[in-house]
Amino acid sequence: MSIVDSIFMRMFGRPQGMLGKFGGMIMARMNKAFTYSVIDLLDIQPNDKVLEVGFGSGVGIQRLSQLASAGYIAGIDYSQEMVAQATARNMAEIEAVRVDLRQGSVESLPFEDNTFDKALAVNSMQVWPDAVVGLREMRRVMKVGGRIALGFTSYSGQSNTGLTQILTTAGFTQARLVETDRGFCALAMA
Ligand SMILES: C[S@@+](CC[C@H](N)C(=O)[O-])C[C@H]1O[C@@H](n2cnc3c(N)ncnc32)[C@H](O)[C@@H]1O
Repeated sequence: MSIVDSIFMRMFGRPQGMLGKFGGMIMARMNKAFTYSVIDLLDIQPNDKVLEVGFGSGVGIQRLSQLASAGYIAGIDYSQEMVAQATARNMAEIEAVRVDLRQGSVESLPFEDNTFDKALAVNSMQVWPDAVVGLREMRRVMKVGGRIALGFTSYSGQSNTGLTQILTTAGFTQARLVETDRGFCALAMA
């Protein structure tokens, strides 16, 4: 990996240390509107149980907890820095036990089968070690008929080619691609 790639990975891919803290602050500003647009595509209901993988700064978690006002929001992120940043941003809801943010990796989620109505990941899947393994694990913790959204900004580095096929390989159905003004989103059913 080149030095530039390594700096980008520490800032954005798997944020770490001071660079990661700074990267989180940048992502909170740059990706908020897009993250909200991905959440809109999930049609969140007040009682929904929702999982976000790779929540980063936690702006999406904050929005989800407003929309699922009587539900439950869980998040997993690989980065300790991002868990700290998102925890600070969502402290009141965490204390109210409506939001649960944990450090971990998508290929081993600490949740029971058939738990979540909706799930999402924004600008995250492109840095997972194995996308299909991660998506299979997300499907395991989703209810049958639950909805997943994978959003990517135009600068994420993820190609939209083959994305619906990856979802189908992981066991999701009705996979389709939606283009938005800032990027694209793949939607499917568990
Ligand atoms: C580019 S950031 C995107 C953050 C946020 N979703 C956004 O759009 O601003 C990628 C995030 O995915 C997380 N991540 C990377 N690999 C992961 C994995 N294997 N499991 C869970 N989270 C992961 C990173 O720690 C980071 O917070």
